[in-house]
Amino acid sequence: MSPLAYLQGKFVPLEEANINIMTHAFNYGTGCFEGIRGYWNEEQEQMYLFRLREHYQRLLTSARILGMSSPHSIDELCELTLELVRRNGHREDCYVRPILYKGSRVVGVRMHDLEDHFAMFTTAFGKYIDASEGCRCCVSSYRRIDDNAIPARAKVTGGYINSALAKTEAQLNGFDEAIMLTHDGHVCEGSGENIFLVIGNTLVTPAPSDNILVGITRASVIQIAREELGIPTIERSIDRSELYGADECFMTGTAAEITPVIEIDRRPIGSGTVGPLTRRLQELFFEVVRGRNRRYAEWLTPAYVPIAADR
Ligand SMILES: Cc1ncc(COP(=O)(O)O)c(C=O)c1O
Repeated sequence: MSPLAYLQGKFVPLEEANINIMTHAFNYGTGCFEGIRGYWNEEQEQMYLFRLREHYQRLLTSARILGMSSPHSIDELCELTLELVRRNGHREDCYVRPILYKGSRVVGVRMHDLEDHFAMFTTAFGKYIDASEGCRCCVSSYRRIDDNAIPARAKVTGGYINSALAKTEAQLNGFDEAIMLTHDGHVCEGSGENIFLVIGNTLVTPAPSDNILVGITRASVIQIAREELGIPTIERSIDRSELYGADECFMTGTAAEITPVIEIDRRPIGSGTVGPLTRRLQELFFEVVRGRNRRYAEWLTPAYVPIAADR
C-alpha cells in the first residue's frame, strides 16, 4: 500500500502528492520546513516523536521571519503529524518533513501577495551520517549565510543551497561533513548540524548570533549535559584554530543526532577516536529519545495508543 502524504488540506497517496512546475517555491526556494524524528520503541510498541511542539514553534518562527503565515495552528500541526504517522503505520524509526511554501503559480521574485501552502510526508529513516566510529570534517571554503542575507535561524528551503555546496565540496574532497565559518571567520555549524567542542570539563558551542540554526537537539544536549552530568555549556564565538586544539568535538541535529567528530582538516581531535564525554552524551541521548529515561518524557509525543500494561 502506498504511504500517505498531506497536501493542501488532504491526505493523499504519496505518488499523488505532486506540485506544479510553476510553483513559486520550486523556482525560488521560497519556503520553510522542519525535520522531525520518530523513534520506535520495540518493547512498548510505541513511536515517540521527539520535541514535536518545539519543531512547530520553530516552523512558525521561520514563517514569521519570511512574512509567511501557516494555515494551521501549532496544535493542528501536531495533530496532523500524529495522524499521518498513524495512518502510515511506521514500526521503525521515521522522519517527518513538514513544509510551508509559496504555492502560487507565478513568475516573479518576491514574498508578499503569494499563497502559503502546507504539505508533509513521512519516511522510514536510519542513520544520516554513516560514521559510527566518528566523522572526518573539513572547514568549508563556503561561508555560512549571514543573518542579513538569508537568516540562518529560519529554516529556509532556499538557504540549503549553502549547505549543499559545502557538503558536496567536503564529500568530493573525501571528508564526511563540512564545518562552515561565519563571514567574520568564526566557527558556525555543519551543513545540517550544530557543533560542540569539549574544552576541559566544559562544552563550548557558537551562540545564535553567529548565524546558526538554533537547533532543538543542541538545546536538548545542553540540558542533558547540565542535568545529568553537571557539565555547563558556554555559548560564545569560537575561532577556527580552537577546533584543532579541542579535547573532543561532536555535531548535533535531528538527522545527525549526536555525531562524534574525530578529525578536522586532517588533524586528529583529542585522541583521534570518539571522546568519553561524547560517548556518554550519546548514550544518555538515545535513552531519552527512545523513552527509556522518564525524566524527559515531556519531550516525547507518543503516536500510537499505548499497549495495555498487563499484556
Ligand atoms: C543548518 C542546520 N543547523 C543545525 C541543525 C540542527 O537543528 P535540529 O537539532 O533542530 O535538527 C540543522 C537541522 O535541522 C540544520 O539544517
